Amino acid sequence: MAVGRETTNEATGAGREDGRQPPYLYPDYVATRLRAPKKPLIILPRTLSDTTGPAYGSGPIGELDDDLTRQHSGEPLGERIIVTGRVLDGDGRPVRGGLIEIWQANAAGRYTHKLDQHPAPLDPNFSGAGRCLTDEEGRYRFVTIKPGAYPWKNHENAWRPAHIHLSLFGSAFRSRLITQMYFPGDPLFEHDPIFQSVRDEKAQQRMISSFDLETTRPEWALGYRFDIVLEGREATPMENHR
Ligand SMILES: [Fe+2]
Repeated sequence: MAVGRETTNEATGAGREDGRQPPYLYPDYVATRLRAPKKPLIILPRTLSDTTGPAYGSGPIGELDDDLTRQHSGEPLGERIIVTGRVLDGDGRPVRGGLIEIWQANAAGRYTHKLDQHPAPLDPNFSGAGRCLTDEEGRYRFVTIKPGAYPWKNHENAWRPAHIHLSLFGSAFRSRLITQMYFPGDPLFEHDPIFQSVRDEKAQQRMISSFDLETTRPEWALGYRFDIVLEGREATPMENHR
């Protein structure tokens, strides 16, 4: 990223007014009532280090970090899937060597986390966490299990659509993006205040992966494609709880 570029969505709140990014306060999404800032944000001036570093993401990545189905002695239960796509900056250039981390529920909709105690089974062969670096064309690829929907107590009968959480470090600290990837055609979209807090329809589409026959491997796994744009008008919406 060049020094002096336009500031990022997260820094300025750009896109929050026209629905391309979720607002800080979205009353249907109950937790935002507590955490939304009540005073105008103070935008700090950008410094050279904001735009050029620090360079995260070059730590050693394990051989199986990008395959969530092979991190234990047995195979996890559920539908094996391949998730792949490209990471681009605001000018459409590939983000090379960028760290992508993912975390997700298992096929039954349960996280391996002590705070998730809803009555769905844990899977001893699935931790639900993975990471990889993008290649020279900005591509990434994970093999995992399709996550299940899960209840989350935000309101009466509240269920999250199936999703995978992603954290990306772009070329600089301020281009970090945390978002959620959804699956096409999920009937829970219209009932989910987190998804609906992004009001712009095109921006909503940017959070939904597409089924991809080219990525799909015969007799083995369905493929989903999810391209990610870190900045600019076409940016992938940023999750607003951090
Ligand atoms: Fe989640």
